[in-house]
Amino acid sequence: MLRDQFGNVTLFNGDALSVLSDMPEESVDAVLTDPPYSSGGTTITARQADPASKYQASACKRHYPPMLGDAKDQRSWTAWCMVWLGQCWRVAKAGSPLMVFTDWRQLPALSDSVQGAGWKWLGIVPWDKRNARPQIGKFRQQCEYVVYACKGSLALATRKCLPGLYTCPVITSQKVHLTSKPVALIRDLLAITCEGGTVLDPFMGGGSIGVACRETGRGYVGIELSPDYYTISLDRIRQTEQNA
Ligand SMILES: C[S@@+](CC[C@H](N)C(=O)[O-])C[C@H]1O[C@@H](n2cnc3c(N)ncnc32)[C@H](O)[C@@H]1O
Repeated sequence: MLRDQFGNVTLFNGDALSVLSDMPEESVDAVLTDPPYSSGGTTITARQADPASKYQASACKRHYPPMLGDAKDQRSWTAWCMVWLGQCWRVAKAGSPLMVFTDWRQLPALSDSVQGAGWKWLGIVPWDKRNARPQIGKFRQQCEYVVYACKGSLALATRKCLPGLYTCPVITSQKVHLTSKPVALIRDLLAITCEGGTVLDPFMGGGSIGVACRETGRGYVGIELSPDYYTISLDRIRQTEQNA
């Protein structure tokens, strides 16, 4: 398995479950991640479509390397989430926050998995993306969600009162991954994690979480199955100046 380490960053190119199961218990201070949603439809055929057609409007298609692991049905996705979330729970220190991205369709399944894996569910933080597809006669699906939880009692990292909603547009020209999350949004979310602590991200994608961790002086452990995205993330995170 490919592994790179520089400063307080460790990256693995491999399957999240096998990497997590080799990590020592109570070795990270927070978990922030964005797993494949396996969403995009109510039937197995719709879910197993190419993520590029599920998650991109045809008018604005850009090409990205293939995103892996996005074709599970609802039951297997829920069970799989519970397994990797259980490993994250083992690897996290007591009091660690957990934040996991999801969409409206997978929100109920994810909150079940989070609790089933042992985490104490604390709430949902909506992310208003602004630029969602308009739908005649329907509400826009303009938000994605961060399910947030903690291991035991949350270890407070700040005395500030944090917002319950973040508005942050996706800037297409800055995307390196089909489902890239904005670095500015991640920086905001990191406010609930302790400064100088280590953040675990088992589904690194194009590395936005790693970039934000480096920019804010946090350590980062990232895991990615796709060799293409691993290389993209490695280069991107390495080039980010470390603040500490
Ligand atoms: C939603 S994307 C993450 C995007 C990332 N947050 C960003 O801003 O670029 C999820 C990533 O998980 C990867 N993945 C899927 N199954 C995996 C597995 N079993 N282990 C590790 N990574 C996996 C996919 O290849 C994909 O790049």
